[in-house]
Amino acid sequence: MPAQPSTISLMQAQLSFVPLAEIVTELLVVLAADAQTERKSGAKPAVTLLTTDPVVESAAASVLGSGEFKAGANETVLIHAPHGLLSKRLLVIGLGKCGKVTAQSLRNAAGTAVRFAKPRGIRELALALPASEGELYAAAGVSDASAVKSAVEGALIGDFDPDTYRSDRKDQSIQLLTLLSSTESDRQALESALGQGVIVGESQNFARALVNEPGNKLTPTILGQCAQAMAKQVGLECEVLSTEELKELKMGAFWAVAQGSVEPPALIVLRYTPDRASDGPVLGLVGKGITFDTGGISIKPADNMERMKYDMAGGAAMVGAMRAVALLRPGVRVIAIVCAAENMPSGTAQKPGDVQTAMPISPDKSGKTIEVINTDAEGRMVLADGLTYARRLGATHLIDAATLTGAISVALGKITGGVFSNDEPTYAKFESALESSGEKFWRLPLGEEYADLIKSDIGDIKNTGGRFGGAITAAEFLHVFAEETPWIHLDIAGIAWVEDARPYIAKGPSGAAMRSILEWVRSY
Ligand code: BES
Ligand code: MN
Ligand code: ZN
Repeated sequence: MPAQPSTISLMQAQLSFVPLAEIVTELLVVLAADAQTERKSGAKPAVTLLTTDPVVESAAASVLGSGEFKAGANETVLIHAPHGLLSKRLLVIGLGKCGKVTAQSLRNAAGTAVRFAKPRGIRELALALPASEGELYAAAGVSDASAVKSAVEGALIGDFDPDTYRSDRKDQSIQLLTLLSSTESDRQALESALGQGVIVGESQNFARALVNEPGNKLTPTILGQCAQAMAKQVGLECEVLSTEELKELKMGAFWAVAQGSVEPPALIVLRYTPDRASDGPVLGLVGKGITFDTGGISIKPADNMERMKYDMAGGAAMVGAMRAVALLRPGVRVIAIVCAAENMPSGTAQKPGDVQTAMPISPDKSGKTIEVINTDAEGRMVLADGLTYARRLGATHLIDAATLTGAISVALGKITGGVFSNDEPTYAKFESALESSGEKFWRLPLGEEYADLIKSDIGDIKNTGGRFGGAITAAEFLHVFAEETPWIHLDIAGIAWVEDARPYIAKGPSGAAMRSILEWVRSY
């Protein structure tokens, strides 16, 4: 079975308070920022090392004085056999402009350090965190603890490579990361932050490992088995329902998508109960788990269709978030639901024009009817029943994540995810979660006029709303099933896959949304 959590990463992380000059390591990494405040275009960068260690400053003086290094974000310069240090190499990584440094800059710099080391056969490195008394930090509002957490997360994210099926693959994983801190004041808080960073980074990599799996290796059934194995390891309740149970629950929208494939669907339910279970909120996490999206009878063009193996990235984000929830133990009840199916064309597949009946909100009510205009708009159909099921299981607040529409990348590119919400307090919590996660999401509107675009002539709603505002009409479709329950919808179609490698992350699955969902959960 692919993607076992225990095999995600071998990287150990530790804290050290040893002075930089005395640390024995293959690679000592220090950070630098550009303190130039003049806005004139000709203004030379004022490269400032973010360490007050005089030995490091003098070892780097000549390179920094040369002007070849400008401390741009994730820019690197390497010094071999640095004078006065016990480290074999000194790597300086830029964080960009002083005023713009955030915890995310540290996450990326740590990832850059790891991705610098890996291809050079360096398996162990030490990263010096910026001195917290520095002005830079005061301005950025990054605490020592969040710096540690972010750096560990970034290092683990950087450590991930997707080439798991290469027959001659060499594992170049980093074995040991040492974070060097100059402030020993609250050692316990730093150790705890380190532990949290490991959990978050490994859980994100777990999600990425699932997303990376091709459709032939990761069927809905196998995704269910992976969730079950993870649940067992971390102590979550897990239940996987399939065809018969779906039909019993009257999940007509979910089944409509699954019916065209010989692979049975899997309705994955993960449950977390805090140590002191209260009758406070119950958070419902709902993920799109299409393990391959051909489009169905409304089949997609061949070009780039192979990418549709990542159409379960929303579901993987939920499974990854639940792993972290189980290990971090927040004080709120959480239920995750992943609707896993293959969207295939076949003699048993649904057809355009078909009318499907979604799961009713209670057994005595009738389900809403959906006119299928395009079988490629399948994500919203499986999520319809997933959202309803979460509400039936008692969810008081909902969050869903899905690679739902190509339209979201037309609007926001491959940089920023889309977020929608029907409830201001719930959205406000998500917005603060973004500050901790460092992820980029941009809110788009919902509204009656958009909802009007998915009214059906034959039934209640249709599954597409035309060419314009495609991400919004898709969100309005989900809104019909979330109804008045406070709800957040994340459209991650544009950000679930990194198209070009960046200095801090490999090309391939990004694990997007997992950290933001987790931080949102932790805010309750
Ligand atoms: N899985 C796709 C969306 C997608 C596109 C994800 C590109 C990642 C990259 C989704 O199921 C889909 O096909 N959406 C259609 C909806 C349309 C038929 C209304 C789309 O966006 O074209
Ligand atoms: Mn589709
Ligand atoms: Zn899809």
